[in-house]
Amino acid sequence: MPEHPASVEAVAQGLRQVGYLPGESTALVSFLAAKLGKPVLVEGPAGVGKTELAKALSRYLKRTLVRLQCYEGLDEAKALYEWNYRKQLLRIQTESEGAGWQEVQEDIFSEEFLLPRPLMSAIAAQEPVVLLIDEIDKTDQEFEAMLLELLSDFQISIPELGRIEARTLPVVLLTSNNTRELTEALKRRCLYLWLDYPALEHELEIVRLHSPELDQTVAQRLVEIVQEVRELDLKKPPSIAESIDWARALLLLGAEEINAATFRETMSVIVKHRTDLDTVAERVGVKLADVTPAA
Ligand SMILES: Nc1ncnc2c1ncn2[C@@H]1O[C@H](COP(=O)(O)OP(=O)(O)OP(=O)(O)O)[C@@H](O)[C@H]1O
Ligand SMILES: [Mg+2]
Repeated sequence: MPEHPASVEAVAQGLRQVGYLPGESTALVSFLAAKLGKPVLVEGPAGVGKTELAKALSRYLKRTLVRLQCYEGLDEAKALYEWNYRKQLLRIQTESEGAGWQEVQEDIFSEEFLLPRPLMSAIAAQEPVVLLIDEIDKTDQEFEAMLLELLSDFQISIPELGRIEARTLPVVLLTSNNTRELTEALKRRCLYLWLDYPALEHELEIVRLHSPELDQTVAQRLVEIVQEVRELDLKKPPSIAESIDWARALLLLGAEEINAATFRETMSVIVKHRTDLDTVAERVGVKLADVTPAA
């Protein structure tokens, strides 16, 4: 049975139960989205849990996840629907000789000949779904404009067929890495959630959730170092995704502490630019050597 959240606290608990540890505003905005039927625009740096939030919501709400991965050049045919030309052609060929054009046209431009793509699947679904429109900032403004009709009225206009209205209301999440400013028109239609790097305690909890076998003190130290590295002026600061990977790497290597040597060997798990590696080695690695001399 699909879940109908009764309170912000219920959403927070539900998300935790499916393995997502939400911050305060995350639970609040998710609750409002489910109740008000408004889409949520989730922005924030890479790897802070934007996509995972949609997946977690679909698990918690027990709704199917329909995902539209955006990319440059994405068009309506890939996002909304396409006509199934082959099937249409076959039908024209098998249509009895005497059939008039009008008849044939009415026939081949019916729902039977549509190939639904994610956006159409989401609103035509019999049971309400969670719709994830991932990395919307990769598309152009034209695509955004097309989304507006869908997001405000939950309907799609097909020139040959007319309007298709939503059978059920999806919970919609749009994510963006902020590579371009989205239009005001789109923002106006959405609730807004900014996901940032988490505070130390919160990140520690997330790391421990993903790697429960990692020693508590190593996990604590790992998160402290990651937070310190984030303070540096790097091209790409490490995200939660990197903290989780680092925890897994340390676990695999059987590291009992993070000393200068372990750090040197594994820092490329959290820092992924040549120049950043130098900065981090210089500013953090050296300090580690002072505290715990390399074995
Ligand atoms: N609050 C959280 N609770 C549990 N796991 C989390 C949380 N936040 C992030 N994660 C984990 O961090 C990883 C990265 O998350 P995700 O892929 O959702 O990031 P993203 O913001 O979509 O990144 P990108 O912008 O690169 O697509 C995932 O493995 C996810 O499970
Ligand atoms: Mg993502």
